[in-house]
Amino acid sequence: MKSLREVLDWAEEKKVAIGHFNVSDSLGFKAVVETAKDLDVPVIVGVSEKERDFIGLEEVVALVKTARENNLNVFINADHTYSLERAMAAIDAGVDSIVVDGADKTFAENIALTKEVVSYARSKNTEIIVEGEIGFIGKSSKVIENLPDGVSLETQTNPEDAREFVKETGIDLLAPSVGNVHGIVKTGNPKLNIERIGEIHKAVGIPLVLHGGSGIADEDFRKAIKAGIRLIHINTEIRVAYKEGIEEGLKSSEIAPYQFLAKGVEEMKKVIRERLKLFNGL
Ligand code: 13P
Repeated sequence: MKSLREVLDWAEEKKVAIGHFNVSDSLGFKAVVETAKDLDVPVIVGVSEKERDFIGLEEVVALVKTARENNLNVFINADHTYSLERAMAAIDAGVDSIVVDGADKTFAENIALTKEVVSYARSKNTEIIVEGEIGFIGKSSKVIENLPDGVSLETQTNPEDAREFVKETGIDLLAPSVGNVHGIVKTGNPKLNIERIGEIHKAVGIPLVLHGGSGIADEDFRKAIKAGIRLIHINTEIRVAYKEGIEEGLKSSEIAPYQFLAKGVEEMKKVIRERLKLFNGL
């Protein structure tokens, strides 16, 4: 089995992006892993702080390890981590990667927190990938009326800040703000700033991560991957699919959970499949 670092190198070589899908429970996990297996592509299962509180951190790490023993290139990411304590707990539990989210802190505070996490991760296992974020893109994976407060063209990441941030922190991956926002905006998600992605990529020389993948147009994804995005996060789209699927399942008279919940898994799989095909150029 490949390490996540090796898979990132592979993605760079192939000029594709690895799909990252957030889950809250074992059904989400099942949908992600079975779809990636079917398409024979690597995949990352993401759990933010609240998601890992729900599914259980040790539990989800164990699920991913078992899948890997079955020859699948599946990795577990501790998504959006806001404190050193939570980061240490995730690293101690055995995650493959961690996202330090200091995007709404000051630049100096963000650097300080990210640096501390990098140092802790390196002291534990040099294979752990640490991702940093600069530029606020909102916080919630839900369907929203308008752009999240505090997100504008001015909050997009500046390539010079990105260069300094990467140099100061020693992160492996950078998640910038380039027109992407968390959630599906009812009036339409903004277009990605492809030129800015290219400039940031050139300035930092490490792979870039696109958060807030829900609601982005296919053509924008293709261009973003060409410009240096190597990992893409999707959450809201699978949350919506899961809920609608379960609502459908509950309309039947079935009482076995594996029957009335199955529609939820099926709907999540449809979304994950289309995204993985696009990200992997299939
Ligand atoms: P969306 O909810 O917009 O897909 O964003 C997900 C994400 O970036 C998780 O880290």
